[in-house]
Amino acid sequence: MILVTGGAGFIGSAFVRTWLDPAAGKDGIVNLDLLTYAGNMQNLAGLGSGEGHWFERGDIGDRALVGALLRRHRPNAVVNFAAESHVDRSISAAGTFIETNVVGLFNLLESCRAYWLELPEGSSGDAPSRESFRFLQVSTDEVYGSLGSDDPPFAETHRYQPNSPYSASKAAGDHLVRAWHHTYGFPVVTTNCSNNYGPRQFPEKLIPLAILNALAGKPIPVYGDGRQIRDWLFVEDHCRAICRVLEQGRPGEIYNIGGKSERRNLAVVEAICDLLDGLSPAPSGGSYRDQIRFVADRPGHDRRYAIDSRKIERELGWQPTETFETGLARTVRWYLDNKDWVEAVQSGAYQQWLADQYGDQA
Ligand code: NAD
Ligand code: TYD
Repeated sequence: MILVTGGAGFIGSAFVRTWLDPAAGKDGIVNLDLLTYAGNMQNLAGLGSGEGHWFERGDIGDRALVGALLRRHRPNAVVNFAAESHVDRSISAAGTFIETNVVGLFNLLESCRAYWLELPEGSSGDAPSRESFRFLQVSTDEVYGSLGSDDPPFAETHRYQPNSPYSASKAAGDHLVRAWHHTYGFPVVTTNCSNNYGPRQFPEKLIPLAILNALAGKPIPVYGDGRQIRDWLFVEDHCRAICRVLEQGRPGEIYNIGGKSERRNLAVVEAICDLLDGLSPAPSGGSYRDQIRFVADRPGHDRRYAIDSRKIERELGWQPTETFETGLARTVRWYLDNKDWVEAVQSGAYQQWLADQYGDQA
């Protein structure tokens, strides 16, 4: 049994599916999610609650609730996906990022440490013990700051230089996790992953936003000159990496996870347009590329992220299975095939975000 937080979000729900895949032969999951604007029960469609998957709505910062869940279900690990995750929202309103990614995480760590201290020492079969328990913090490459075009990619030893309120809040969280290990011996592992993409990503992020704006005949907004670089990883490859770290990662260690797929933003958007031109041609007969618009840049926009994932490859034998081209094609097809999901997430609140963020530019 494991406890997953944020399991109704984009990556968390993909992880729940990966873990509960019968072929993986894993145990059950307790899924704690506050269901913020980014959390969506439709991401868990088909899994139900009970029989391997128990869903609980609540806040990672609620110590009474988390303590009760831990004692009731007795998990052998906690995987923390719960976070505020969108850089642009952190720029317009940073408060919830500090509340969840820093204060909420602090409370979660304390709830989990109290539970861990009650576990028996010495392992006996499958029952959780002080030795077997793990707390896995899901973090981001953005904590390392921005790279120049010729800099080597981020290794685990790279210094922390977060530049946005989002990345600063995640960096603060990573420091708490590190300190809980160093001071209390609490058995943590941290993963720092590059940009994810795939099915069920909320369409405030670049790839789903570009797909859905293209199909809606709306402008596709590219910030600044569009030459910023991200290292893209298909979400299921990220989930497989987390499974490996959970099972074989060494306590106190950090593992960087990346897709070996550095791409300029403009190239990403153009690739999406080209796929859509083939799969769902625009009614006008033109190319979706005609809808690309350069818009005002994001303040403090990081220029380049790139990940050196040799440690997880060497120590845990993980490799991504999708290339950017195969993963992007799967993603575009998923959004074309799941119009109900798309309609449901594009609620009034989402329309308000688009209006506030882009005005009439998207
Ligand atoms: P997301 O925004 O899609 O999902 C976040 C989930 O957390 C939502 O279901 C939300 O309801 C839940 N949540 C938010 N606050 C909560 C709280 N206080 N208590 C309980 N649940 C709460 O995010 P995502 O893209 O799936 O990212 C998941 C994690 O992975 C985050 O920690 C993020 O920093 C990290 N990460 C994301 C990426 C990426 O490209 N998306 C890359 C690297 C790391
Ligand atoms: P995003 O998906 O928000 O992820 P992150 O900021 O965590 O990397 O953005 C990915 C890149 O795309 C980033 O460089 C910002 C850029 N971007 C645009 O050019 N236009 C957009 O409308 C959005 C949302 C992002």
